[in-house]
Amino acid sequence: MPPRTMEQILKGRRSQPNQLIEVLQDIQENYGYISKEAMKAAADSLGVPLMEVYRVASFYKAFKLKPCGKNHLIMCMGTACHVRGARLLLEQAVSQFGVNPGEVTPDGLFSVEHVNCLGTCALGPIIRENGSYHHHMTPGKLRKLIESLRRQGTEDRQNVQVK
Ligand code: FES
Repeated sequence: MPPRTMEQILKGRRSQPNQLIEVLQDIQENYGYISKEAMKAAADSLGVPLMEVYRVASFYKAFKLKPCGKNHLIMCMGTACHVRGARLLLEQAVSQFGVNPGEVTPDGLFSVEHVNCLGTCALGPIIRENGSYHHHMTPGKLRKLIESLRRQGTEDRQNVQVK
Protein backbone atom coordinates (compact mmCIF):
# COMPACT_ATOMS: atom_id res chain seq x y z
CA MET A 1 0.00 0.00 0.00
CA PRO A 2 1.51 3.40 -0.95
CA PRO A 3 2.24 5.74 1.95
CA ARG A 4 -0.47 8.20 2.87
CA THR A 5 0.22 11.90 2.43
CA MET A 6 0.21 14.26 5.41
CA GLU A 7 -3.06 15.67 4.09
CA GLN A 8 -4.63 12.19 4.20
CA ILE A 9 -3.24 11.52 7.68
CA LEU A 10 -4.61 14.79 9.04
CA LYS A 11 -7.96 14.62 7.24
CA GLY A 12 -10.88 14.59 9.68
CA ARG A 13 -8.61 15.38 12.64
CA ARG A 14 -8.38 19.16 12.39
CA SER A 15 -8.50 21.02 15.71
CA GLN A 16 -8.48 17.74 17.64
CA PRO A 17 -5.47 17.90 19.98
CA ASN A 18 -6.44 14.57 21.55
CA GLN A 19 -5.50 12.91 18.23
CA LEU A 20 -1.82 13.83 18.61
CA ILE A 21 -0.45 10.37 19.43
CA GLU A 22 -2.53 8.67 16.73
CA VAL A 23 -1.33 11.22 14.18
CA LEU A 24 2.30 10.70 15.23
CA GLN A 25 1.82 6.92 14.96
CA ASP A 26 0.42 7.33 11.44
CA ILE A 27 3.29 9.60 10.41
CA GLN A 28 5.82 7.10 11.81
CA GLU A 29 4.11 4.20 10.03
CA ASN A 30 3.94 6.02 6.69
CA TYR A 31 7.32 7.74 6.59
CA GLY A 32 9.42 5.63 8.96
CA TYR A 33 10.19 8.69 11.09
CA ILE A 34 8.72 12.02 12.14
CA SER A 35 10.34 14.95 10.37
CA LYS A 36 10.31 18.57 11.56
CA GLU A 37 7.99 19.42 8.68
CA ALA A 38 5.56 16.65 9.71
CA MET A 39 5.60 17.89 13.32
CA LYS A 40 4.84 21.42 12.14
CA ALA A 41 1.96 20.21 9.93
CA ALA A 42 0.53 18.16 12.81
CA ALA A 43 0.83 21.12 15.22
CA ASP A 44 -0.90 23.51 12.81
CA SER A 45 -3.67 21.08 11.97
CA LEU A 46 -4.43 19.77 15.45
CA GLY A 47 -4.07 23.14 17.15
CA VAL A 48 -1.28 21.91 19.44
CA PRO A 49 1.85 24.01 20.16
CA LEU A 50 4.83 22.75 18.14
CA MET A 51 6.81 22.39 21.38
CA GLU A 52 4.19 19.95 22.72
CA VAL A 53 4.31 17.89 19.50
CA TYR A 54 8.09 17.71 19.81
CA ARG A 55 7.87 16.82 23.52
CA VAL A 56 5.53 13.88 22.84
CA ALA A 57 7.42 12.70 19.74
CA SER A 58 10.75 12.72 21.58
CA PHE A 59 9.36 11.13 24.77
CA TYR A 60 8.29 7.82 23.24
CA LYS A 61 11.13 5.62 21.99
CA ALA A 62 8.79 4.13 19.37
CA PHE A 63 8.87 7.45 17.52
CA LYS A 64 11.94 8.11 15.40
CA LEU A 65 12.99 11.69 14.73
CA LYS A 66 15.56 10.74 12.11
CA PRO A 67 15.20 8.42 9.11
CA CYS A 68 16.37 4.81 9.48
CA GLY A 69 18.14 2.62 6.95
CA LYS A 70 16.13 0.29 4.69
CA ASN A 71 17.11 -2.45 7.15
CA HIS A 72 16.90 -1.25 10.72
CA LEU A 73 18.41 -3.51 13.38
CA ILE A 74 17.25 -3.09 16.96
CA MET A 75 19.68 -4.83 19.27
CA CYS A 76 18.79 -5.66 22.84
CA MET A 77 21.32 -4.61 25.47
CA GLY A 78 19.23 -5.71 28.45
CA THR A 79 20.86 -7.75 31.21
CA ALA A 80 19.79 -11.17 29.91
CA CYS A 81 21.08 -10.41 26.42
CA HIS A 82 24.14 -8.54 27.68
CA VAL A 83 25.44 -11.53 29.66
CA ARG A 84 25.12 -13.66 26.51
CA GLY A 85 27.27 -11.39 24.36
CA ALA A 86 24.95 -8.67 23.07
CA ARG A 87 27.67 -6.00 23.42
CA LEU A 88 29.94 -7.92 21.03
CA LEU A 89 27.11 -8.21 18.52
CA LEU A 90 26.47 -4.47 18.65
CA GLU A 91 30.19 -3.77 18.14
CA GLN A 92 30.20 -6.19 15.21
CA ALA A 93 27.21 -4.46 13.56
CA VAL A 94 28.75 -1.02 14.07
CA SER A 95 32.02 -2.28 12.60
CA GLN A 96 30.34 -3.97 9.59
CA PHE A 97 28.16 -0.94 8.86
CA GLY A 98 30.86 1.64 9.55
CA VAL A 99 28.34 3.92 11.29
CA ASN A 100 27.36 4.50 14.91
CA PRO A 101 23.96 3.64 16.41
CA GLY A 102 21.40 6.18 15.21
CA GLU A 103 23.19 6.82 11.89
CA VAL A 104 22.40 5.43 8.44
CA THR A 105 24.99 3.84 6.14
CA PRO A 106 25.86 6.00 3.09
CA ASP A 107 24.03 3.55 0.78
CA GLY A 108 20.90 3.90 2.93
CA LEU A 109 20.74 0.14 3.52
CA PHE A 110 21.43 -0.13 7.26
CA SER A 111 20.97 1.53 10.60
CA VAL A 112 21.19 0.16 14.10
CA GLU A 113 19.97 1.13 17.53
CA HIS A 114 20.03 -0.52 20.93
CA VAL A 115 17.28 -0.84 23.49
CA ASN A 116 17.02 -2.11 27.05
CA CYS A 117 14.72 -5.10 26.50
CA LEU A 118 12.75 -6.57 23.62
CA GLY A 119 10.60 -8.68 25.95
CA THR A 120 11.89 -12.14 25.00
CA CYS A 121 14.77 -12.40 27.46
CA ALA A 122 14.95 -16.22 27.57
CA LEU A 123 15.81 -16.29 23.87
CA GLY A 124 18.63 -13.75 23.96
CA PRO A 125 20.66 -12.31 22.57
CA ILE A 126 17.80 -10.92 20.49
CA ILE A 127 17.92 -8.71 17.41
CA ARG A 128 14.83 -7.29 15.76
CA GLU A 129 15.20 -6.62 12.06
CA ASN A 130 12.38 -4.89 10.18
CA GLY A 131 9.79 -6.48 12.49
CA SER A 132 11.35 -9.98 12.55
CA TYR A 133 12.94 -11.33 15.72
CA HIS A 134 16.22 -13.24 15.53
CA HIS A 135 16.99 -15.16 18.72
CA HIS A 136 20.06 -16.82 20.23
CA MET A 137 22.18 -14.59 18.00
CA THR A 138 25.87 -15.26 17.54
CA PRO A 139 28.51 -13.32 15.59
CA GLY A 140 28.22 -15.89 12.79
CA LYS A 141 24.42 -15.63 12.58
CA LEU A 142 24.64 -11.84 12.58
CA ARG A 143 27.23 -11.83 9.80
CA LYS A 144 25.00 -14.09 7.66
CA LEU A 145 21.93 -11.94 8.37
CA ILE A 146 23.75 -8.76 7.34
CA GLU A 147 25.18 -10.42 4.20
CA SER A 148 21.73 -11.66 3.23
CA LEU A 149 20.15 -8.22 3.74
CA ARG A 150 22.98 -6.59 1.79
CA ARG A 151 22.52 -9.05 -1.11
CA GLN A 152 18.77 -8.42 -1.10
CA GLY A 153 19.32 -4.64 -1.06
CA THR A 154 21.73 -4.86 -4.01
CA GLU A 155 19.30 -7.05 -5.99
CA ASP A 156 16.41 -4.66 -5.27
CA ARG A 157 18.52 -1.76 -6.51
CA GLN A 158 19.47 -3.63 -9.72
CA ASN A 159 15.82 -4.54 -10.35
CA VAL A 160 14.81 -0.89 -10.02
CA GLN A 161 17.54 0.11 -12.52
CA VAL A 162 16.42 -2.56 -15.04
CA LYS A 163 12.76 -1.45 -14.99
S1 FES B 1 17.07 -8.48 28.02
FE1 FES B 1 17.09 -8.85 25.90
S2 FES B 1 15.04 -9.36 25.44
FE2 FES B 1 15.00 -8.83 27.53
